[in-house]
Amino acid sequence: MDPHRIRAFAPGRVNLIGEHTDYNLGLCLPFAVGMGVTVTAELRDGRDIVAPGLPDDDAYLRGAVAELRAAGVEPPGCTIEVDSDLPQEAGLSSSAALCVSLVLVLTAIGGAQALAPIELAKLCQRIENEYTGVETGLLDQLASILGEQGRAVRLDMRTLESRPVTLDLGEHVLAVLDSGSSRSLAESGYNARREECRRAAELLGVESLRDATEWSGLPEPLDRRVRHVVTENQRVDAAVHALEEGNFAALGELLDASHRSLRDDYDVSVPEVERAVEACGEAGALGARIMGGGFGGSVLALFPREADPPRGALPVAPYQGARVLRRPPRAPRRVGA
Ligand code: GLA
Repeated sequence: MDPHRIRAFAPGRVNLIGEHTDYNLGLCLPFAVGMGVTVTAELRDGRDIVAPGLPDDDAYLRGAVAELRAAGVEPPGCTIEVDSDLPQEAGLSSSAALCVSLVLVLTAIGGAQALAPIELAKLCQRIENEYTGVETGLLDQLASILGEQGRAVRLDMRTLESRPVTLDLGEHVLAVLDSGSSRSLAESGYNARREECRRAAELLGVESLRDATEWSGLPEPLDRRVRHVVTENQRVDAAVHALEEGNFAALGELLDASHRSLRDDYDVSVPEVERAVEACGEAGALGARIMGGGFGGSVLALFPREADPPRGALPVAPYQGARVLRRPPRAPRRVGA
């Protein structure tokens, strides 16, 4: 590998089920997709890090450099180039992929030792929380970092244990459909949900909503928020079970139930998303739901292979997670030719 020029790739993610559970220390079942963000760094003289393709004073780059320094890694002067084949604002976590890819490349170009997966995920989460003002949980970063070909990963956000779950869909495919709705309310709405969950946990006297068992005494809408979190955690393990049994009708029903809960109890759907969910249903989906933070973005649906998904639906499957890209070895020279 040319030590002066290093590339890293971090994929976006799909979350099969387990939405708005990560920051409540619950369960999620994401996988890394094949599309993602590639960052190339090339050493240059001086100490500046320049990124001609990013906005001046880009929060992600500023955050990545500051957080790496705080972790004892001093990125050298370099030129950064960012390339992405992930649709932006579609709920596939392009911002987490950018953070992970940036941090991987800035670590490697200075010759520093790679961070351990969980440490890397938390560092990237701090970049989003403290430099862009979105209080994301750890779902997107862990999904991008821990991705494996052919497998989703069951994440327990309390213990941070991860367990690969083979995603053998038989005669079915998963696809995402962009609702086309701009996620303008996403940040404020997302942070407001986090605040409601904090308040509900406080009123219930539990450390996090992972421990909630009862919510009937809570004021509205906190009672509904808790019901979503508790039932969504149950749906994650039910989905793992359905996958292990190859029961796709049950998996489809769980996606539908998750959607209803996110729409009616968690209030994160919008009319464009409802239309996208309906369109998937009309095209023969076994189940469909809003994915990611909500307030727009993409819908995830499970289709029989022979179905004809709505136009624009993008098939998705699990791929390998974030990594520094090694160059293919040079072809050996023929001696004496
Ligand atoms: C966004 C956040 C994640 C997670 C999801 C909802 O994608 O970045 O941390 O909270 O929303 O499940």
